[in-house]
Amino acid sequence: MGLFNYKDEEALGHVKAVDTSTVIVSVENLELLRKLQVNRLVVLHSSKAGQYLVGIVQKITRDTTVEKILADSDGEETTAKTTEQNLVRITLIGTFCDKLGSRENVFRRTLETVPEIDARCFAIEGERLTAFMKAVSFQGRSDAARLSLGHYTLDEAAEAYLDANRFFQRHAVIVGSTGSGKSWTTARLMEQVALLPNANAVLFDIHGEYSTITGDGIRHLRIAGPGDLNVSNGLDQGVLFFPYWLLGYDDMTTMLVDRSDNNAPNQAMVLARTVVDAKRAFLEAGGHSDVLANFTVDSPVPYDLQHVLAELQRLDREMVQGSRGDKQGDFHGKLSRFIARLENKLGDRRLGFMMAAPAEAGRFDWLSKLSKMLMNGSKDQAAGKGGVKIIDCSEVPSDILPLIVARIASLIFSVQQWMPKEKRHPISLVCDEAHLYIPDACEGGSVGAAALRHFERIAKEGRKYGVGLVVVSQRPSEVNRTVLSQCNNFVALRLTNAEDQNVVRRMLPDSLGGFAELLPVLDTGEALVVGDASLLPSRIRISTPNAHPNSGTVEFWDEWANDTSRDNVSDAVTAWRKQSMS
Ligand SMILES: Nc1ncnc2c1ncn2[C@@H]1O[C@H](COP(=O)(O)OP(=O)(O)O)[C@@H](O)[C@H]1O
Ligand SMILES: [Mg+2]
Repeated sequence: MGLFNYKDEEALGHVKAVDTSTVIVSVENLELLRKLQVNRLVVLHSSKAGQYLVGIVQKITRDTTVEKILADSDGEETTAKTTEQNLVRITLIGTFCDKLGSRENVFRRTLETVPEIDARCFAIEGERLTAFMKAVSFQGRSDAARLSLGHYTLDEAAEAYLDANRFFQRHAVIVGSTGSGKSWTTARLMEQVALLPNANAVLFDIHGEYSTITGDGIRHLRIAGPGDLNVSNGLDQGVLFFPYWLLGYDDMTTMLVDRSDNNAPNQAMVLARTVVDAKRAFLEAGGHSDVLANFTVDSPVPYDLQHVLAELQRLDREMVQGSRGDKQGDFHGKLSRFIARLENKLGDRRLGFMMAAPAEAGRFDWLSKLSKMLMNGSKDQAAGKGGVKIIDCSEVPSDILPLIVARIASLIFSVQQWMPKEKRHPISLVCDEAHLYIPDACEGGSVGAAALRHFERIAKEGRKYGVGLVVVSQRPSEVNRTVLSQCNNFVALRLTNAEDQNVVRRMLPDSLGGFAELLPVLDTGEALVVGDASLLPSRIRISTPNAHPNSGTVEFWDEWANDTSRDNVSDAVTAWRKQSMS
């Protein structure tokens, strides 16, 4: 017996008009019409036995036309007769087959047939709905490839599963206004990922919200803040340094060269030259002849920035022999402002994670240590337990944040690229607050533009190399379009801003544009889920994660209402001066 074994008298009505994917059904029974709601599911008989067309109710109209019917020729009596035309517009979304090959109850997103005029239409409700949702959720997937986000809003009894392979492989987006539940959704995802024995993901935690998420598969790392600069074996303690030598040439010039300076081109050129020299000196001293043959200014080779600084200072003061005595060298006085900028960065303790990393981070083998820490799966005990790496970036100054996050991401991408295919272990990069470092609009040459380049590459090519992106943002309209357009899965929580709604609307298939109307009215923790990973575009109530992210919201009123006094300012002032909290 098939799932859709309706009796004829259960029919809502009959098909009046058919378009490619839209059907108009007329409903005679007013009782049934009243029960019908927009966004509910209906099923229509197709021309093939055992096949049904499934659709979503888009619009319900009840038109009443009053016709004056003149009585017969003598014209004495006039009666008014009311006719009703109750119409329901339905968008077809797929085909359900009782049997397909050896499989039963198969739902597919294709429409091979259209319903015939007068075909009967039925509501999918109650037990049929649960059974249908389960069939959709479970089909064709092994248990391991199922990601459980929560339950369908349409039917709380049916658990909503996504195809986890497609979700992570084809890039995903989680959007929603502040407070709509993005961080909780992200935490729920991460908790499930962490259960897998060989999980591999990196979550960029911009505000340090996810420190509460703990468990066997989870490892917490933090980018060193001013208070961490004295640790000797940072990695063992989860403190991450990202030494300057890992920045590429473009990143360095973006950070150090002021483009409005007349001498900017000279400065960039001298920087490139001195950095290459310093890298060569490092390689020669270490006897790395194999690397020497092919290195460039961008190669991840350590060098001593103090030597670079000394060389710049020398050039800035250089006098050379001229025909009539000494004259100023080519770069004399042209590098002063650049040097001042570099010195400034070197002394800035907030940049200590780059500029003042411990000696260990200046060694040749450090790149592979760092990469292992970032890219190990849970099984790789040597690199430390926990395949889900949560990187707390809360101490990174916001002007440099885009560069650092993008650099870590691109480091992972590069290592993955240089790995033979059969050895690659897929890794997911989860980017919370992505509008901060994958921006849509940014000036050329800015830190944002530099960051964007790295992410665009990962979005376009990541799939080939087993690097997936999960982009999380409250301002989808401020996240780069190219990156968004590469994402094939959407989890859209409540969105109130019209521009942001438009971004989501554009990503929906045309026939489902109406779905976007729901965005502003979704409940907290409720999402529209559309894309490769979910067969059926659906509204899902996301289950709460076991551990709740700590949103870091300060309760102003409660704090003010608390009458204990505190002396907090003078210590802060001291720390500010010392550039150290300890
Ligand atoms: N799935 C959910 N179910 C119930 N409540 C939720 C859910 N997700 C979020 N919330 C509530 O909403 C608040 C904000 O969620 P959060 O994930 O921090 O929002 P966002 O990251 O979008 O700003 C949470 O503190 C919690 O109280
Ligand atoms: Mg959040």
